[in-house]
Amino acid sequence: MSRTLVKAALAATAPADSILLQGWVRTRRDAKAFSFLEINDGSCLKGIQVIADAGLPDYVHIQKANTGAAIEVRGKLVPSQGQGQQWEVVAESFKILGEADATYPLQKKGHTLEFLREIAHLRPRSNLFGAVFRVRSRLAFAVHQFFQDRHFHCVHTPIITASDAEGAGDMFRVTTLDLAHPPMTEDGAVDVTKDFFGKKTFLTVSGQLEGEIFAHALSNIYTFGPTFRAENSNTSRHAAEFWMIEPEVAFCDIHGNMDLAEEFVKYLIRDARTHCAADLEFFSKFVDKDLLTRLDFVLERPFQRCSYTEAVAILEKSGRTWEHPVSWGANLQAEHERYLTEEHFKCPVTVYNYPRAIKAFYMRKNDGETPERQTVAAMDLLVPGIGEIIGGSQREERLDVLREGMALHHLDEKAYSWYLDLRRYGSVPHAGFGLGFERMLMFVTGVGNIRDVIPFARTPGTADF
Ligand code: 4AD
Ligand code: MG
Repeated sequence: MSRTLVKAALAATAPADSILLQGWVRTRRDAKAFSFLEINDGSCLKGIQVIADAGLPDYVHIQKANTGAAIEVRGKLVPSQGQGQQWEVVAESFKILGEADATYPLQKKGHTLEFLREIAHLRPRSNLFGAVFRVRSRLAFAVHQFFQDRHFHCVHTPIITASDAEGAGDMFRVTTLDLAHPPMTEDGAVDVTKDFFGKKTFLTVSGQLEGEIFAHALSNIYTFGPTFRAENSNTSRHAAEFWMIEPEVAFCDIHGNMDLAEEFVKYLIRDARTHCAADLEFFSKFVDKDLLTRLDFVLERPFQRCSYTEAVAILEKSGRTWEHPVSWGANLQAEHERYLTEEHFKCPVTVYNYPRAIKAFYMRKNDGETPERQTVAAMDLLVPGIGEIIGGSQREERLDVLREGMALHHLDEKAYSWYLDLRRYGSVPHAGFGLGFERMLMFVTGVGNIRDVIPFARTPGTADF
């Protein structure tokens, strides 16, 4: 007999004479003549109720069906007499597959998120984390569906790289050198030519530069993979290892880029609303009461757009005292981003055209500006509760201007010769962005800490499991 998932059993349209369930016991309640078990198999949020009659041949073993134990039940699917569920299973036989004793940590509800992080190997069996990771799975699928439906090609960009895509230097070194006894050059430096790749290598911070290569051949591409940042920021929105979706579009400018970002974010929200309804309902009950209203509000309204210069004016006029002072030329900090999206616009907002000096070397220089107020066609999408979820730009497609930007950022042209070649051969206006997958999941689930939307978080000082 093949297994019926709890999800399918709960969605049944007719009783069934004989089904096989396999899952984990969430609760057991013993009455005189029978026991009630709730079995969950992770296929959906809800468990299914099983009734085991005391007359069953193996009934003595029901004592081993403790919370956390793995169990197999054969029986009849029948309309439920009880409240809150349509179907239940009357057991005809059961088998304990894996016992769990009273030390099983998920006995009761109401554990703190901090405690659950310490048992990240067991937390997917809780309601909250089961729901989070089902949504994560669904949205990973939706990412591909969105782009594939729009004729984008998926490109697997490398994880190990020799170039710093963001030019920000927050990179994890990859080396096989013996750190205690590294090979040295004659002038006393570590001889990196003896390293595995014959040069210094790192974990990638972004697949963008390689993505640009493919956009110059396949027109519309996207990457979806892990990225790594060695920034020592211990916040609820930063992880050292996170997943990023990066589309790159040839023959596209900053406006097309903003349109695509908005369409993409709305698509993912709508997809979760449709395909993860029960899980989202759960979040709105237990994590964030305003979640569904906020998501629906975001779906209905066009995102706001405002230039960096306008944003600075809004922040200056706000009458707030900022921890980080605002003035034209300074980077927007989380407090500024949150103010713009949560209090001023009260909706997602795309801020564009940032000062050239604070943005990456590859962003397109805007024409007709003074050197003091020189901007680039950068864009950040800010959402309530989180701040930045997308960063992107139109890329500098003019060889001479790109070289000037690289000099401004003290980058070695030799290391980027292949990137410059894209501007030498068949250069076109192009643009792209990166969506932080975990930040998007935080937005869609209402979960407030990035550590709780990734299976095993890597943050400064933590790399367990
Ligand atoms: O703004 P970022 O640094 O942009 C880039 O990396 C570009 N190369 C993307 C592109 O244009 N193709 O990062 C993009 C997004 C951020 O908006 C944020 O959502 C997420 O990646 N992100 C992080 N998420 C979690 N932890 C971190 N440490 C993150 N750093 C960035
Ligand atoms: Mg950014």
